[in-house]
Amino acid sequence: MAAPLLGRKRELADLRRLFVEGARLVTVTGPEGVGKTRLARDFAREHGGVVVLDDARPKDVGEEPTIATAREPLGVAGEQVYRLRPLGEAPAIELFREHAPGLDASYVELAERVRALGRLPGAIERAAAESQA
Ligand SMILES: Nc1ncnc2c1ncn2[C@@H]1O[C@H](COP(=O)(O)OP(=O)(O)OP(=O)(O)O)[C@@H](O)[C@H]1O
Ligand SMILES: [Mg+2]
Repeated sequence: MAAPLLGRKRELADLRRLFVEGARLVTVTGPEGVGKTRLARDFAREHGGVVVLDDARPKDVGEEPTIATAREPLGVAGEQVYRLRPLGEAPAIELFREHAPGLDASYVELAERVRALGRLPGAIERAAAESQA
């Protein structure tokens, strides 16, 4: 995990607020490659005592404060669902550039490119790497 976490300040603050308000289980949901695992791990690294259950199943959930990732909600009692959105335009472009160093493309060109990729970080990383090949 060399690259820094891009464009997720508000999401980290939202997660923090959910736990401060007493959540025991927060499930980060969203489509493939939107960044659920990355966000959950970065959050847990900054906040000791929170267990990460990646690609969680309902039976995995224990009593400890937990941040789970799953494409859909787990449907467990007390679950707080946090729907993760794609990246904003600027961080999506920054991520593309990080994975395609030396690429000669304008901001406007890359804005269109990442829009077509749904601004999903997983898809952006793949496409950027391919553009280098
Ligand atoms: N905000 C971000 N800044 C930088 N890189 C990111 C960010 N979000 C995700 N990534 C990178 O994008 C890739 C996909 O992210 P991740 O694996 O977290 O997606 P996911 O939603 O968990 O996907 P899946 O549903 O397949 O488990 C990873 O390489 C991850 O490090
Ligand atoms: Mg994941």
